[in-house]
Amino acid sequence: SPAPPVDRLGRPLRDLRISVMDRCNFRCPYCMPEATYHEAFRFLGPTERLNFDEIERIARLAAGLGVTKIRLTGGEPLLRPGLPDLVHRLSALPGIEDVALTTNGVLLPRFAPALQQAGLRRVTVSLDSLDPAVFAHMSGGRGELSAVLQGIDAACAAGFAGGVKINTVVQRGVNDAGVPDILARFRHTGVTVRLIEYMDVGNLNGWDRADVVPSSELRARIAALWPLEPLLPRYRGEVARRYRYVDGAGEIGFVSSVSEPFCGMCSRARLSSDGKLYTCLFAATGTDLRALLRGNSSDADVDERLHATLSRIWRHRIDRYSEERARLPALLASGEQASRQEKIEMHYIGG
Ligand code: GTP
Ligand code: 5AD
Ligand code: SF4
Ligand code: SF4
Repeated sequence: SPAPPVDRLGRPLRDLRISVMDRCNFRCPYCMPEATYHEAFRFLGPTERLNFDEIERIARLAAGLGVTKIRLTGGEPLLRPGLPDLVHRLSALPGIEDVALTTNGVLLPRFAPALQQAGLRRVTVSLDSLDPAVFAHMSGGRGELSAVLQGIDAACAAGFAGGVKINTVVQRGVNDAGVPDILARFRHTGVTVRLIEYMDVGNLNGWDRADVVPSSELRARIAALWPLEPLLPRYRGEVARRYRYVDGAGEIGFVSSVSEPFCGMCSRARLSSDGKLYTCLFAATGTDLRALLRGNSSDADVDERLHATLSRIWRHRIDRYSEERARLPALLASGEQASRQEKIEMHYIGG
């Protein structure tokens, strides 16, 4: 078979992030603000979402093109009925070495053991604050902090081989003061906390650069409490910059897509719950693979066309949104027009 494709910037395809559910049981204002995602909002219907056969089929072809890691996201992926079955099928695919899940944690007490049994290697739980009032604000009043903490405990107890992580999106003046509390709670537990710069995903969160706490600033604040030392990346193009506590209490990570974009090594493709393939978290348009899957061609035909489509999309890819965003102020100052289309909303394609 031919060599796996690289894109126009020389980047291979390694990671497939699959959103299995556009709905969520939270309403985090930075992702699914209640004002938009109210009772009358029309989410996808069950037949509009890719079914497990369709997801498996795309994942198998993607593995043939170089994908080794799959991350299941949402919305909230655990709202998708039967998720352990999908994990089982994806883990069994030739070439897939790692299947991970990003979740808000609430449903983990119910599903963690079955997910672990099915072959899920790693779990990442989103947790923005340990202060009940701040937590309530940041989950849109839907989430219960104690339920998330029980979910994290359940994940730890289930014994995922690749471990458990926490994702904390940091917003200045909202939850940044509570970051040390989160770190303190998970020091010495083996759970890695990752502090994420607030990003301008989607079109609805009213993003303002002033709300971002640059990782360098946050790191200095943390190091004043617990000295840190940098760790080497685990793999080329790792999203998080890793640090260890000098006192041996474990490691933390910084995801700094605003202050230090990492597009240069970006090997991620994203599949939305309705079967569109996006080559960037900030993409405005995707390629409809569902239409291809559901056409009335033979199985072999569909596979061949999917393979050709995926391969072509990747070879043409030039996305590097975060790097372009970093240049925006200069562009604006120089009077150049910076016009962009509406971006895809995060709950369709996960983080
Ligand atoms: P592992 O290294 O395999 O654990 O995966 P990861 O670092 O990609 O973990 P995760 O998916 O939890 O990503 C953490 C956060 O980083 C996401 O929730 C996003 O907010 C952000 N992120 C992940 N991938 C990208 C990306 O390609 N571009 C940008 N701008 N942000 C990303
Ligand atoms: N900026 C940074 N991270 C975000 N996430 C959701 N919206 C944003 C944003 N605007 C994160 C969530 C979760 C993952 C799915 O993406 O906190 O960890
Ligand atoms: Fe749901 Fe995660 Fe979005 Fe919050 S950030 S609304 S938990 S998908
Ligand atoms: Fe990849 Fe787009 Fe994120 Fe850059 S902004 S790292 S190209 S997903």
